Parts: sequence; structure tokens; C-alpha cells
Amino acid sequence: MRVDRFLSNLPRFNRQQARRLLVERRISVDGVTVSDPHYEVREFSRVCLDAEVLQAGKPARYFMLHKPQGCVSATSDPQHPTVLDLLRESDKNELHIAGRLDFNTTGLMLITNDGQWSRRLTQPTTKLPKVYRVETEDVIGPDYAATFAAGLYFAFEDLTTQPAELAVLGPTTARLSIIEGRYHQVKRMFGYFNNKVIGLHRERMGPLELDPALAPGEYRALTVEEIHQV
Ligand code: URA
Repeated sequence: MRVDRFLSNLPRFNRQQARRLLVERRISVDGVTVSDPHYEVREFSRVCLDAEVLQAGKPARYFMLHKPQGCVSATSDPQHPTVLDLLRESDKNELHIAGRLDFNTTGLMLITNDGQWSRRLTQPTTKLPKVYRVETEDVIGPDYAATFAAGLYFAFEDLTTQPAELAVLGPTTARLSIIEGRYHQVKRMFGYFNNKVIGLHRERMGPLELDPALAPGEYRALTVEEIHQV
């Protein structure tokens, strides 16, 4: 929210008073003096009036998990373990998943409480590639790459998928890079050729690669550099 609105939403300031505090350069956000009324204040921002803390700012949290098979990408499930069950974090109920994976899909899963950050990763408009290693039941044909690059029509959503890049690694293995993350997208793309996906592993989301030191089920906090890469 804009800093002028943040201030005038507090019971003690009206809009005029909020503007004046900014002009007088008495407001700081994360230690930086702010006079621009459009400056963005987030739930993670520390906002002060002179030395007085108006909002302490809650800590932003970012984790990378190696999702194992047999767990659900959801915050709760009546039957199966969820990816959040794998986290030993006291505030895990405030976290959400940036880009779900199917029950038996393995690989990179990013978990955070920062909605703006996760939207940048997952929204098709930012065009960040999601890279999967795919294993199929039948041989991957020579026509797959061009078909995926041209886009496939998904009747349910009434859309054509954005150009995807396929690198064939072996008769039944490939690396597929897609921009959006539609429901069961990879399986449906191979399903167009009646070729069943029997193994699916997400290696990368945008600039972030699954840490090879993480065994399935393990996780770690992202580094500051990794957070800022997105
Ligand atoms: N596409 C799928 O079909 N499944 C996943 O888990 C991820 C992408």
C-alpha cells in the first residue's frame, strides 16, 4: 500500500497530516527517509515516525524444498502428508506454495509468506521458465518439440499454451521448459501424443535451481542473493 494511505489509515492521522509528515521527512521505511507519498509499504516493512515504530514489519520467509513423491502440494489434506508437514517452522501456517506440483512429482518447491514474490515467479506474464525433467512411457517422437514450441490448445481453459522448449535427452527422457503452470500441464502436453508421463521432476523455477545437496524431503532457507534474483 502507498505510504500516504498507510499513514492515513492509522487512527491518529488524517490525509493532510500524513502528507505533512512526509513533507517534513519524519517518516522512514526500513531505515530510509521517505517523502514520496507513492512509496510502497509492505507487511514486511518497518515504518517509523522519527524514532517511534509505527509498524515493526513481519519477517519475510523464503524456503526451497526438495518435494518427495507421495505428498500433496497443499497446506492441509485429510488423507496424505503435505509439503508443509515437512517444514519445522513455527509460522508454517502463514506460508504458501509458489507453484504446486502433483502428488508424485518431485523436485523444486518454493515456499514463502511473500505473495508479491511468489506471483513474480508463477505469473505467465513474467515469463520465468519452469524446467522439468520428464520420463515417458513411450518414445518421444521427432515432432514433439515443434508442437510444444507452437503451443497446444487446452479446451478446458480455452487457451493455447505459450511456446515451450523441449530438449530430448534419450528415447523416453526429455527436459521441458514451460512459461505458465496450468493444471497438469506437462502431463497434458505429452497426453496430446498419448504418451504417459511416468516420472516428473522440477529442476528449476526462473533463476532458482534445486540445490543438489537437498535430499527428497529436505529443505533450506533461501539466501539473500537467491531471494533478490526473482
Ligand atoms: N505439470 C504436471 O503435469 N504436473 C506437475 O506436477 C507439474 C507440471
